[in-house]
Amino acid sequence: MTAKLHDIDKLTDIEAAAALAELVRQIAHHDLAYHQKDAPEISDAAYDALRNRYRQILQVFPHLKPIDDPESRVGSAPAAGFSKVAHAIPMLSLSNAFSDEDIADFVDRIRRFLQLPENIYPEFVAEPKIDGLSASLCYEQGKLTVAATRGDGTTGENITANVLTIADVPQKLQAPFPNILEIRGEIYMNREDFITLNVQREKDGEDPFANPRNAAAGSVRQLDASISASRPLRFFAYALGETRGGGLQTQQALRDQIAQWGFHLNEPSRLCVKDGDLIDFYRTIEAQRHALPFDIDGVVYKLNRIDWQERLGFISRSPRWAIAHKFAAEQAETRLNAIIVQVGRTGALTPVAELEPVTVGGVVVSRATLHNEDEIARKDIRVGDIVCIQRAGDVIPQVVSVDLKQRPQHTYAFVFPTHCPECGSLAVREEGLVVRRCTGGLICPAQAVERLRHFTSRTALNIEGFGEQRVRELWQDRLIRSPADIFRLRDHRETLQKREGWGEKSVVKLLEAIDARRTITLDRLIYALGIRQVGDATAKLLARHYLTLPLWREAMIAAQNKESAARQDLEAIDQIGPLIAQDSVDFFIEPHNLAVLEDLSSVLTVLPYEKPFGASSSTLEGKTVVFTGTLATMSRAEAKAKAESLGAKVAGSVSVKTDYVVVGEDAGNKADKARALGVAVLSEAEWKALCEAS
Ligand code: IVH
Repeated sequence: MTAKLHDIDKLTDIEAAAALAELVRQIAHHDLAYHQKDAPEISDAAYDALRNRYRQILQVFPHLKPIDDPESRVGSAPAAGFSKVAHAIPMLSLSNAFSDEDIADFVDRIRRFLQLPENIYPEFVAEPKIDGLSASLCYEQGKLTVAATRGDGTTGENITANVLTIADVPQKLQAPFPNILEIRGEIYMNREDFITLNVQREKDGEDPFANPRNAAAGSVRQLDASISASRPLRFFAYALGETRGGGLQTQQALRDQIAQWGFHLNEPSRLCVKDGDLIDFYRTIEAQRHALPFDIDGVVYKLNRIDWQERLGFISRSPRWAIAHKFAAEQAETRLNAIIVQVGRTGALTPVAELEPVTVGGVVVSRATLHNEDEIARKDIRVGDIVCIQRAGDVIPQVVSVDLKQRPQHTYAFVFPTHCPECGSLAVREEGLVVRRCTGGLICPAQAVERLRHFTSRTALNIEGFGEQRVRELWQDRLIRSPADIFRLRDHRETLQKREGWGEKSVVKLLEAIDARRTITLDRLIYALGIRQVGDATAKLLARHYLTLPLWREAMIAAQNKESAARQDLEAIDQIGPLIAQDSVDFFIEPHNLAVLEDLSSVLTVLPYEKPFGASSSTLEGKTVVFTGTLATMSRAEAKAKAESLGAKVAGSVSVKTDYVVVGEDAGNKADKARALGVAVLSEAEWKALCEAS
């Protein structure tokens, strides 16, 4: 995103909504790439920039909050194929810090929240941050019964069979242990094991994993647990779930207890007891990082006192009492040999730098993303230049800058193509967007292949075995030109078996994977169609509203008339605005799309949408609370956080819409106003009792 900060105020509502929708789409795309496909496409920094931009626009246009608000979810929804596990307590993430000042602010915030006097230092346990896959393990009577991924934080995938194959995970706890215990931790892979695994994969004609995190995630998310068993996975434990502190008083004691039950902890760790200890630990670990057997991307600081952790609680996606202090990205210089332009599912043209291979942070890099044409122009990146590239965490490296002093003679500014490199169609830039898109639609092989891949992806039809290379080959040989062709592949069994590198076994496996998906739910089908702006959450809303495929299709066709009752009905669905409505309707204007849908309904059984079981709600859910005066037992920030964690909204002034006014010492006239309006007035103690009960 190149748009600047100060331009946000100038956006109209429509422009802001469009920008938000585009950001939601991009964020969702990258979340999916990272969490479900285990193949991130952009750096953490580029991803954070998307999120920041999103937050900044929302700050100015809070009323335009999109339904798929990425801020309110962690990770992405569980993939199909695994059964689902609801987490008793949400599995959240950590907020990130990048500088010493960020850490000073973090400690200050904790001090203020808890109202700690100057002479008391909030102690922290510091430990490395290993980038793996978080998991929750439930033990009953000391035996491992259920293991789950984080999923979207609320519901994860049941990976018990896979986790039982990890040697580091005790199948039985060392006594004494509570009857029920939930352990949380990280599944990961050592660097050396990862390299060995990739060498083997390349021998077998499979795509290598991009990094140890992806290798671990890809290995755990195998429906066939014998594949997980063959992978060198490891586990360290870092927290308790359902049982929380389990009566323990400190994080340190918790670590000791976890080790006694038989788990590995992540080491080295240190108890930090005074100012400067955190940063000192950070620097020590940063210096040793390449000597550790696993890749780490920072260190984590956790407040030692568990009662304080509980008071601090959580803010949206992460705890207030812990933070990840990330290492700076690793950089290197190399020559840029060429710039190529790739085409994605929606026709977006993405420039990629081909580099003279160079080692960055222990990994050989030969390609880096250039983001978009404006970035190339802004940084004046030219073929032949010596460029600085960086690898942040574990994602695709990016070109940061050019060393102009080393620029060879006779270089030229890069001319971004105005036509699609894959199909030759015109590529255009919509006003206000940085992306140039191919207009070739279905005649563009790159788009066709990417759409088919989207169709078969985990959140969509979830058919295994449709890697990029395979789909490209099948498309080129005209075996699959449209999604329904996938379900007719079994008529070509012999042709498939004769293909080079495709044994009988892999054909049987592929056809079985396809057969397993002949019956799917309506929401998955809607998502799979790849309609612009219709992500999985929107697809669910549409499915829930229209219930069956024929009803949805009829309604979308009728809604083409802007004045129709069908259009009003569509726009009235909670959280579907006119923009998403327009995109859904547009899809049905294209005769080709109707034909695809028709064809699909002849090969698929589409089930009506099934409602997931509802989230629990507290008695304070949706209530509006106003605090006034000084509270005796907690800071205002703590009171607000507590109310919000129970689903209440905290307002600044009293109105007829207020449900409760909580009165502390030296309260002003808000209590009188509340009484005059007939609003319930509570003392601090009454408020706390209400929170307890809810
Ligand atoms: S504590 C409430 N400790 O990093 C979350 N997490 O970016 C408590 N991670 O979700 C997490 N190393 O999957 C914790 N030493 C460590 C960790 C760690 C890696 C992962 C974890 C978390 C993610 C956040």
